[in-house]
Amino acid sequence: MSDIILAIESSCDDTSCAVIRDGFLLSNVIASQKVHEAYGGVVPELASRAHQQNIVPVVSEALRQAAVNRSELSAIAYTRGPGLLGSLLVGTSFAKGMAISLGIPLIDVNHLHAHVLSHFIKEKEDDKTPEFPYLCLLISGGNSQIVLVKSTSEMEILGQTIDDAAGEAFDKCAKVMGLPYPGGPHIDRYAAEGNAERFKFSKPHIPGLDYSFSGLKTSFLYSVRDGLKHDPDFIANNLPDLCASLQKTIIDILLDKLKKAIRQTGVKDVAIGGGVSANSGVRDAVERLCTSMGIRAWIPPRKFTTDNAAMVAIAGYTKFLTKDFSDISLPPYARVSI
Ligand code: KG4
Repeated sequence: MSDIILAIESSCDDTSCAVIRDGFLLSNVIASQKVHEAYGGVVPELASRAHQQNIVPVVSEALRQAAVNRSELSAIAYTRGPGLLGSLLVGTSFAKGMAISLGIPLIDVNHLHAHVLSHFIKEKEDDKTPEFPYLCLLISGGNSQIVLVKSTSEMEILGQTIDDAAGEAFDKCAKVMGLPYPGGPHIDRYAAEGNAERFKFSKPHIPGLDYSFSGLKTSFLYSVRDGLKHDPDFIANNLPDLCASLQKTIIDILLDKLKKAIRQTGVKDVAIGGGVSANSGVRDAVERLCTSMGIRAWIPPRKFTTDNAAMVAIAGYTKFLTKDFSDISLPPYARVSI
């Protein structure tokens, strides 16, 4: 008999549901919330309300696309945290209600574990997976971490940001340039046509494997402010070069520490995950770094980089195999480490 897991992700502003059978993805439906664009960032109260509206149609659509009946499900997995509490409560409550009504186990998933394990999502029989131990550069709107992945359940943070995440640097600098939220994908697009050597922004000097992006953000803000003093159309006249130079600086910061971590650990596999791993420059740079160091790079399909329930499903499946189920009384958590 097959093991079929339905997974729910609602940690931030994407309502998503996925169904997997024996580790193979059958469906992955994502409803993104456009309501936040007007505010230049996610508004928690609006996010929870949108999750409430989206969750029933998203779950129904995921079951329909998977051609699976609710009665065939073996377990319900859900993102317990970290994330926005009001958003998490919607997914958590829905998952609990569904598990109770169907009389099947409930599996809580750490959102960060799910990002790291996104490389284990299988769509085809011959899909390959990284070998343990491997390093994962986890870069999103809320995190920038270098994680040593020892197994599907054992992960150690070797370095992390002491202030802003890489995604925040992208989004906040994009806001300075008047680009819509989230700014990362817009910067990625303009950067493709720009000169990355044109502007220089400051880089942090942080010991060990930790990151910092707040200084870069300030340096970028001051450069734009100075430019505007001399040319009121400074941003419009230099947009691709500003984006390319900013993106290159973020990549240099990320890869400098990643390279150190590879040398320190001697791993043979390096993966990337989280929303910022959708960035074209990051993907190329990690691929090039790994090739130059004679190791394997694992670059996820773009659809599995930003928040999605497929990664929650595969993380939930690894817990299902060891019968690591969760109690119905567990509350969601806004903050938690990997
Ligand atoms: O993982 P994610 O969907 O949400 C969490 O933070 O958990 O990541 C969202 C972040 C945002 O900061 C967004 O700007 C960034 O990922 N992002 C990108 C790109 N696509 C998404 N940053 C740079 N280039 C991209 N192509």
